[in-house]
Amino acid sequence: MSKGPEISLRRATMRDVEPMMDLINGLAADGLMLPRSPASIVEKIRDFIVATVDDEFAGCGALAIIWTDIAEVRSIAVDPRFQKLGLGRRLAQFLIDEAEELDIARVMAFTYVTGFFEKLGFSVVEHESLPHKVFTDCLKCPKFHKCDEVAVVKELGVPTGEGLPAVALPKPGMPLRVGR
Ligand SMILES: CC(C)(COP(=O)(O)OP(=O)(O)OC[C@H]1O[C@@H](n2cnc3c(N)ncnc32)[C@H](O)[C@@H]1OP(=O)(O)O)[C@@H](O)C(=O)NCCC(=O)NCCS
Repeated sequence: MSKGPEISLRRATMRDVEPMMDLINGLAADGLMLPRSPASIVEKIRDFIVATVDDEFAGCGALAIIWTDIAEVRSIAVDPRFQKLGLGRRLAQFLIDEAEELDIARVMAFTYVTGFFEKLGFSVVEHESLPHKVFTDCLKCPKFHKCDEVAVVKELGVPTGEGLPAVALPKPGMPLRVGR
């Protein structure tokens, strides 16, 4: 009996930067996702995971921590040769599990493929319901005033309340708290 292709997930290394750039920016050129600069991948390499098929690079994704109670599933991309094999789901689920292990209460994504995320239990929300994301990233985005991505959120099974204080966003001019 012939064995099927061997699919694996692993943490990204610097060797993956070029294939990740080629894949993400190739799909971005077709309008399927937003492009990423080399620096935004290199500096965030620890956020990224990679999927391989028979040891060949096949896809990637990243988990960006936005705040104490929210993380973003970002840059999920599967090489068209390996799409529809379940790699996208496995990449996303790995990142969701990682957020849960960090006691992060929910994950979000900005996407053009709402249906893919709905299959993973995400629901569509208004952009305004994600102020931390807007403050940290959206303000810097050239598409800020004409964002065409859909915001989706998935609540995780992390108990909130005691032990997980919601840390307030710092306000401009507010001194940093040092010591107790
Ligand atoms: C979206 C993408 C990551 C999906 O990867 P994939 O490996 O083909 O997806 P999977 O095979 O794991 O599919 C998981 C489920 O999502 C569904 N799905 C996949 N792509 C979908 C899409 N574009 N729209 C709606 N549903 C989709 C599949 O039918 C499958 O459902 P099932 O389990 O009921 O059969 C891939 O098509 C891709 O790289 N697209 C371009 C980049 C992109 O849009 N990234 C999204 C993040 S911004």
